Amino acid sequence: MLEICREIDRTPSLEALYENLAHYLARLGDAPASAFMTVVKHGAAGYNLRISQGTGRYANAAGAALHDDLVRERLRNALGQRANQYDPGAVTFYFSHPEGFAILVYVEGVGEIDAESMKLLEFIDDRVVGSIRMHSLATQAHRTGRAMVLALAGLAEHKDQDTGDHILRMAIMTDEIVQILVERGHYREEITPEFKRHIGTASILHDVGKVAIPDSILKKPALLNPEERAIIETHTVHGKKALEKASRILDGNDYLLNLSSEIALHHHEYYNGQGYPAQLAGQDIPLSARIVGLVDVFDALVTERSYKRAWTEQEAIDYVTEQSGKQFDPLLVEALHKVMEYRKGSAPIRWTEALSVKDSDMDNDHRCLIDLINQLASAEKIGNRHIVESVLDKLLDYTIDHFHREERHMQKSGRHFPELEAHKRQHTAFAQTIKDIRWQYLHGFHARINQEVLLLLREWLSRHILTEDMKYSAPA
Ligand SMILES: [Fe+2]
Ligand SMILES: [Fe+2]
Ligand SMILES: [Fe+2]
Repeated sequence: MLEICREIDRTPSLEALYENLAHYLARLGDAPASAFMTVVKHGAAGYNLRISQGTGRYANAAGAALHDDLVRERLRNALGQRANQYDPGAVTFYFSHPEGFAILVYVEGVGEIDAESMKLLEFIDDRVVGSIRMHSLATQAHRTGRAMVLALAGLAEHKDQDTGDHILRMAIMTDEIVQILVERGHYREEITPEFKRHIGTASILHDVGKVAIPDSILKKPALLNPEERAIIETHTVHGKKALEKASRILDGNDYLLNLSSEIALHHHEYYNGQGYPAQLAGQDIPLSARIVGLVDVFDALVTERSYKRAWTEQEAIDYVTEQSGKQFDPLLVEALHKVMEYRKGSAPIRWTEALSVKDSDMDNDHRCLIDLINQLASAEKIGNRHIVESVLDKLLDYTIDHFHREERHMQKSGRHFPELEAHKRQHTAFAQTIKDIRWQYLHGFHARINQEVLLLLREWLSRHILTEDMKYSAPA
């Protein structure tokens, strides 16, 4: 039992704790037992019990629904009484979670449990609950930080353009480039574990200084004169100052803030020294800023703006390639090539004319949804939890908005849709699926968004557009 407590204390993260909890507790008896863990949200009507991790005879049951009536009964008792259940040959552990749900671990094949052992088991209980609480607090603090970063960046972004997912796309591509650099052994000294962990998030704040630039200049539809250009260029210095100030509050030793501040200041420097604000050249420009500078330009090129169409990926690649060694670090341009190659290999879904419902607003919504699912796949592939979380937030948000827009649209069209109610039910069910995926991921019950989940999202969306949304497509 001491060994079990020690293992619980040593578990480094929530994900690892949940992954191993059933295994730890299965070792309670003399012989190795079978055990599984399940998670239930308190107050959720008609919860269905699903195995999330298991060992012994439940080893391959992850994701399966629980059908055994006796076991279900025991779990329900533990839930109802919010306490461990001791039944002949089985223990049901009840762990409460600070955010209002319960974690149940069912262990079978344990011997007789007397009053003395029960007391000892309560001790393990405290250890687990304490550990969950501690990890949850840390996770919560991280999420608060992440939400603030996104809110701040969103504010600056909003001033300039309304392509809300520009910043998430940038974070993903920044991480992807770093990944390639690591694989190829480039910039080994600069790319420390901390750099790797924070660069994606730090990239999000690159333009935060735009908040200080007057709209009359930022949104001017005509060409800027030299004085106006100079004012726009100060967004780099403004951003750096704001982030530096925040960093000072934390005594200057917050890695993320320091990294963000160097990116904000130098993301418009050119490799040949012709950029701004400091005219740094070559390796004198911090690596972080060189990467984000490249990704920023690339993403702006492939995005539609009020004054220009979206360039194709190939056109954007050709442009940055031509600028290799001039505006951009050649090694990074090379890495960007590799990123694009990798992406092609990861089989995302693509929007094609076949998916068009002959309504440009709805088509645009569908395109964004497809993009977000592909972004989720990319973020998952590079294994950046923060970015995966942000994309999941965005996906849920956008899905719900889109469904509302679509339903309103159908109602407004005045045409008669006999299956509208059934269609709405499909929407509700899908939004719930995304909610569940997000919830489980956020609370650490899944260490990864696996391929099945990605497949499910892609298949659902394309099937729904092709078979359901298509019924409502405007007559040509
Ligand atoms: Fe900028
Ligand atoms: Fe729909
Ligand atoms: Fe739709």
